[in-house]
Amino acid sequence: MLIFSIETSCDETSAAVVSDGCVLSNVVSSQIGIHAEYGGVVPELAAREHLKNLMPVSRKAFAEAGIEPCDVNLVAATRGPGLPNALMVGFMAGQTAAFALGVPFMGIHHHEAHLYSAWIKGSPPRLDFARIRPSVCLIVSGGHTLLVHVSGEMKHRVLGSTVDDAAGECFDKVAKLIGLPYPGGPELDKLARDGNPERFRFPRPMLNDDSDDFSFSGLKTSVRYFIRDNQEVLDDGRALRDLCAGVQAAIVDVLVGKTVRAARKLGVDCISASGGVVSNSALRRELTESCRRKGIELHLSEGAFCTDNAGMIGILAGRKCGVDPRPTPTDAEILPGWELSEV
Ligand code: KG4
Ligand code: ZN
Repeated sequence: MLIFSIETSCDETSAAVVSDGCVLSNVVSSQIGIHAEYGGVVPELAAREHLKNLMPVSRKAFAEAGIEPCDVNLVAATRGPGLPNALMVGFMAGQTAAFALGVPFMGIHHHEAHLYSAWIKGSPPRLDFARIRPSVCLIVSGGHTLLVHVSGEMKHRVLGSTVDDAAGECFDKVAKLIGLPYPGGPELDKLARDGNPERFRFPRPMLNDDSDDFSFSGLKTSVRYFIRDNQEVLDDGRALRDLCAGVQAAIVDVLVGKTVRAARKLGVDCISASGGVVSNSALRRELTESCRRKGIELHLSEGAFCTDNAGMIGILAGRKCGVDPRPTPTDAEILPGWELSEV
């Protein structure tokens, strides 16, 4: 089974070739430079960039895999959730490719693909679905923060999500307040590495709340007030690094604390995490340390599989095809607001 897959739900244009659970190529073209001057993703620009980038990215994916398009047996693309116009570019291109090649087309839920992406390992990267264990999965990116109980393959239940800002959005908004370029998450991470997380303490929203939901907008607001009242911090390199470390520690404490607690509540001894924020050095370190102390097995997304990528879309499509090969007539339209609980 040879799959050509496409991901265009936000600001990454990605195409991949996947064969029998193995990612042969996974090309990701980021649009960060385009959106940086606006301080956030501009949906219309994202869609236009996808249109421009998708053909070269697809050609590169085939060239790197050493595969001809005519050998493909299935085309898959992200169906939702995501920015409507951005989704439409990849979805339409995927349907057209499937039509031209005379092969079936499959629309994939973006978060369902993230659910399994932490299990894609090795060189070449592959996912052995038989190895997936009951686990709690944390999906954290600029657009989403989700805690999901994965009780088995394709069996999942959403435990909680953010009631306001996503974790990555909080990183980015705080970074903007500090004057760091977009997307601020990685920049804040770099500064925080040499900072003292204890010097400035920020709230840990909903950390001890009974629910598995998250909230990050209050934390962002408290940083705004802190900066308003302590302007001098922005001009003092040492204090700025301590500020970044303090904010990062607050976000990471909440993410790690709630994920580990959800696993313990469910009696699950395995955690996985994926999404752009999983690149954060403190989150990786604290999740690793916390899971080691509690005897929990941990799977963190690696490299390109952290951020939005077509490899994870193709991997899931291949597995779904193997489990239930019926074409899905409802795949005719995109679903920008598709909830994971509806899959
Ligand atoms: O999954 P992703 O590439 O795209 C979506 O949002 O769907 O995630 C991007 C988010 C941005 O908010 C970015 O700032 C954040 O992930 N991010 C980080 C780091 N690397 C990426 N946040 C904190 N530390 C990082 N090292
Ligand atoms: Zn994503």
